[in-house]
Amino acid sequence: MENKNKKIKILVTGCVGFIGFHVCNFLTNKGFHVIGIDNINTYYDIKLKKDRLKILNLRKNFNFHKVDISDSLKLKKVFKKEKFEYVLHFAAQAGVRFSIYNPKVYFKSNVEGFFNMINLSLEKKIKHFIFASSSSVYGDQKNFPLKENFNTDKPKSFYAATKKSNEVMAYSYSSIYGMKNTALRFFTLYGPFGRPDMAIFKFTDSISKNKKIELFNNGNHLRDFTHIDTFLLLVEKLIMKPGKKKNPFNVFNIGNGKSEKLIKFINLIEENLKKKSKIIKKPLQRGDVIKTHSSVDKIIKYLLLKNKPITKDLKQGIKEYVNWYKSYYSK
Ligand SMILES: NC(=O)c1ccc[n+]([C@@H]2O[C@H](COP(=O)([O-])OP(=O)(O)OC[C@H]3O[C@@H](n4cnc5c(N)ncnc54)[C@H](O)[C@@H]3O)[C@@H](O)[C@H]2O)c1
Repeated sequence: MENKNKKIKILVTGCVGFIGFHVCNFLTNKGFHVIGIDNINTYYDIKLKKDRLKILNLRKNFNFHKVDISDSLKLKKVFKKEKFEYVLHFAAQAGVRFSIYNPKVYFKSNVEGFFNMINLSLEKKIKHFIFASSSSVYGDQKNFPLKENFNTDKPKSFYAATKKSNEVMAYSYSSIYGMKNTALRFFTLYGPFGRPDMAIFKFTDSISKNKKIELFNNGNHLRDFTHIDTFLLLVEKLIMKPGKKKNPFNVFNIGNGKSEKLIKFINLIEENLKKKSKIIKKPLQRGDVIKTHSSVDKIIKYLLLKNKPITKDLKQGIKEYVNWYKSYYSK
């Protein structure tokens, strides 16, 4: 444990979600004092969330508060009691497809909840407010790789619209109040303890149970699959490097910098499960973008990295995921 970090308190919202959990795990291991907030909603199996929390609760330097970020009074109490210096805001209603049928839930958590978070962070003079945006803000583009300065005015889903609105709100708070805000556009993060609503889980689960898998856009989707460890490699450096006074707002892609065909992804899962998939081809779904492929040049330059921050390639990442799936779901 690194002693210098002991005194640094960081709030992580969405702490029992996939990304939040890994970040809390990483930061507590590094010796930071982490305060976690989550409402443990039932969007997906809460056993997974409870198991993640069990792991975090083993740490002396982790404190959990079950709070809904749309409840500003409860949230205010946590800010007052815990007095943290940094905020990593990951709590949100995730998922593109669910937002087509349930936009209100997205408004409550991703717009109202986001406002509460940024506003309290301003009031409490948080040193750096970092939040989860999404690659979905790019919509369908013609040019690749996707760069942070591309136009993001045409979201294809309401989920993407809420993330875009977060970026715009944060930009305004930076420009009005000089608040140091950073938006992270995540590109399909995956890894152990991953979300059951995401493709990697659905495919692994169905193939292993000999069930059919639905392949939208006839399998012609291209995705920038990013291992969670790639983000963990960057997160501490990012926290400790807020924007400068002159330029307090930042936006970065968090990606692998490579686009892979969904079918390759499925083949790797099949190889690791030693089973063949039964595919039902379906047309493109409303809200889905066809291709994502991040440029990671901006973050490399900003954090003065020597190389692309890649930890595991897709082959290694899927092998690790399938092994985790087998051991977790066989219990
Ligand atoms: N995983 C990805 O590939 C990906 C890609 C792009 C963006 N993101 C964004 O990153 C963040 C984390 O994503 P994730 O994959 O870990 O999702 P997740 O659903 O696993 O985690 C989100 C957590 O937030 C909590 N939450 C939701 N609404 C809340 C509320 N109103 N109050 C308190 N807690 C609430 C949920 O209970 C959940 O535990 C989200 O903002 C998501 O939109 C993720």
